[in-house]
Amino acid sequence: MIIEPRTRGFICLTAHPKGCEQNVINQINYIKSKGSINGPKNVLVIGASTGFGLASRITSAFGSNASTIGVFLEKPPKPSRPASPGWYNTAAFEKEAQEAGLYAKSINGDAFSNEIKEQTIELIKKDLGQIDLVIYSLASPVRVHPETGVKHKSSLKPIGGSYTNKTVDFHTGDISQISIEPATEEDIENTVTVMGGEDWKFWIDALQKENLLSPEAKTVAYSYIGPKLTEPVYRKGTIGRAKDDLEATAFDITKSLSAINGNAYVSVNKALVTQASSAIPVIPLYISLLYKIMKENNVHEGCIEQMQRLFADRLYNNQEIKTDDKGRIRVDDWEMREDIQAKIKELWDSATTETLGTIGDLEGYSNDFFNLFGFKVDGIDYTQEVNEVVEIPGLQ
Ligand code: NAI
Ligand code: NA
Repeated sequence: MIIEPRTRGFICLTAHPKGCEQNVINQINYIKSKGSINGPKNVLVIGASTGFGLASRITSAFGSNASTIGVFLEKPPKPSRPASPGWYNTAAFEKEAQEAGLYAKSINGDAFSNEIKEQTIELIKKDLGQIDLVIYSLASPVRVHPETGVKHKSSLKPIGGSYTNKTVDFHTGDISQISIEPATEEDIENTVTVMGGEDWKFWIDALQKENLLSPEAKTVAYSYIGPKLTEPVYRKGTIGRAKDDLEATAFDITKSLSAINGNAYVSVNKALVTQASSAIPVIPLYISLLYKIMKENNVHEGCIEQMQRLFADRLYNNQEIKTDDKGRIRVDDWEMREDIQAKIKELWDSATTETLGTIGDLEGYSNDFFNLFGFKVDGIDYTQEVNEVVEIPGLQ
């Protein structure tokens, strides 16, 4: 079949295996070009198939020759329908890892469930013994709680009052006003249940109980802060409450890891186009201005550049890990630079459907969005039929 993008709003229903493979190869080449990192040896990545999690896995494997186990939730291909992009990304990653002589295995299923945790634990026992880095990079709209069976849905709403601001349809470039009604208490609780720290703690507790974490093991989860401009819908909204909870959980986990001298960190990352962030109102407009300004200042990064810097300059730089006054690692430092944010604030007011094409990087946004699904990737001939069924070699 010939695979073309089929978008519905901020999702794309199709994915291209060759484009996804090329994206992974590009990320691997980037990591190799930056030289080796004196990093982890056995790594578990939860949320390993796309975005920051995939980039963390690639950085571990190709920066430090680490053995990696990846957990994710992706759709395999069917005769009539391509797989989800994370499937193709992982297939490509594992193929490259195997060729490089690196151990790489994957588990496809609900990371929030007890079953998937047990399956992962069995695999670690069998193959790796102990893990020295656990990356927690899930982004999910729902979580079935393993103890109650209740399905919680997260939301992206302001708290305390409705919020009106500009947003962009990144397919058309149309800027419009959007108003979002405030969250209920229940919305807040549900979002914290899905995207807060509880499941991260469950994972670490389960691993520790089985003695699967090595002395001085680290675990890292990802958070976001962003500017005042997006606060109502992000950091001071429902998702922000979940991030507050995630950040607080890092301290709980560190305490519980004291016997092995382990540490839990939250790394605050830069705003980037991923499947998760495309769904948040207002953020795509912010990102298209941010991209333009960061590119002009030569400080633009994608997921792989962010993770390379996290590993090489923060986590494994042979010095004490630098954190902010709330104990968080910051790789959003360039995004949050005063001059960058001042410029965005200025452009925000003048952003209209007519001006965005010149003052913002709508094209960069759109291109990155299609790239997530393996489309518009340089060097790929999209007129070619793709017929082979792509398998993940180390899928359990
Ligand atoms: P993403 O959507 O690219 O990746 C999510 C990953 O979670 C995928 O591997 C997916 O398969 C997996 N996943 C989702 N539900 C699952 C489930 N039930 N069981 C197993 N795996 C599941 O998201 P992205 O953007 O990489 O986000 C990762 C983390 O980084 C999130 O905590 C997010 O809030 C954070 N972050 C994202 C930023 C952004 O701008 N995209 C900025 C800063 C932090
Ligand atoms: Na991820």
